[in-house]
Amino acid sequence: MLTADGVKTACVTGGNGYIASALVKLLLEKGYAVKATVRNPDDTEKNSHLKELQALGPLEILRADLDQEGSFDEAVAGCDYAFLVAAPVNLTSENPEKDQIEPSVGGTLNVMRSCAKAGTVRRVVLTSAASSVCIRPLEGDGHVLDEESWSDLEWVTAEKPPSWGYVVSKVLSEKEALRLAQEHGISLVIACPVLTVGASPVPKVYTSVPASLSMLSGDEAALGMLKGIEKTFGGVPIVDLDDLCRAEVFLAETETTASGRYICSSFTTTIVEIARFLARKYPQYSVNVGNDSSGELLEKPRVCLSSAKLVEEGFEFRYKTLDEIYQDVVEYGKALGILPY
Ligand SMILES: NC(=O)c1ccc[n+]([C@@H]2O[C@H](COP(=O)([O-])OP(=O)(O)OC[C@H]3O[C@@H](n4cnc5c(N)ncnc54)[C@H](OP(=O)(O)O)[C@@H]3O)[C@@H](O)[C@H]2O)c1
Repeated sequence: MLTADGVKTACVTGGNGYIASALVKLLLEKGYAVKATVRNPDDTEKNSHLKELQALGPLEILRADLDQEGSFDEAVAGCDYAFLVAAPVNLTSENPEKDQIEPSVGGTLNVMRSCAKAGTVRRVVLTSAASSVCIRPLEGDGHVLDEESWSDLEWVTAEKPPSWGYVVSKVLSEKEALRLAQEHGISLVIACPVLTVGASPVPKVYTSVPASLSMLSGDEAALGMLKGIEKTFGGVPIVDLDDLCRAEVFLAETETTASGRYICSSFTTTIVEIARFLARKYPQYSVNVGNDSSGELLEKPRVCLSSAKLVEEGFEFRYKTLDEIYQDVVEYGKALGILPY
């Protein structure tokens, strides 16, 4: 709700996470009052970077858990905008139904119901993932997918490609959120980010940053994740964290025009193209793409994800080349100890 001095309030769920911490920082820099939720505010290891952001502006840190009905009531009460970023990210779970799909869908609905109860939230921005868009059988190459495309859950559950439970969780969370938004008259917009890289206030990272740096760091598990993305997506679509956070705030603030889903992707590349770029730009590191004996690595992307809808809405990406994107993330990787100086 607008305070007497005209300050808008935004709730960010999962506020201590990789994307959410950067979003909290941006909102504070833009003059918002922010209510960030975390599962355990007493966990200093997970929250100290968030507490440091309190120096930038009015930031409240509240306890809330996706698994507990009504847990987000206090956090969204009085807010103008709610950014739903918290979600389980259990990419390698052996029981995706229990660890990924149920908590993701149930948790999304739980926060949406709190927004409906609050009655002040002008717009909900749900952070989904491009995994909800493009995991479907596509023969040949030259495909350009937009927001009309949905991952094929029948095919996904039958073929079980890498992280298939994550794909199912994102499709179902979006569809259930859209249903509930319509039922309760909530203004909902969905961001579908691709592989998101860049410096965040968090001191520990687990997925996209290690994956993007894996050819330099030699982290085989992270390289496996990157190869899984290329195989299932038909390329490596990439977006800078700063652009994603600006896009999410843009989608909240364009509440009268923006609607539905928005793919957030700067461009699509391949592991081979990234490796060539890294070898040229960072000769001090050795670049390793691992074993490709079956020749699965792509020379060119087969499938591109289009952010034309976001751009037509008036959003401008700032990081449009590998050079611009990697500059930031390589420095971040050094600071975090993922890469040597
Ligand atoms: N990073 C990417 O490249 C990328 C790309 C596309 C989409 N996304 C999506 O963006 C969102 C954020 O991802 P991220 O990369 O920032 O991951 P992250 O750092 O792991 O953040 C996930 C956040 O969700 C919270 N969370 C998990 N389970 C919860 C629960 N039961 N109750 C409350 N909070 C819970 C985590 O809290 P704890 O710290 O307590 O576990 C953490 O704060 C996710 O929805 C992810 O699917 C990410």
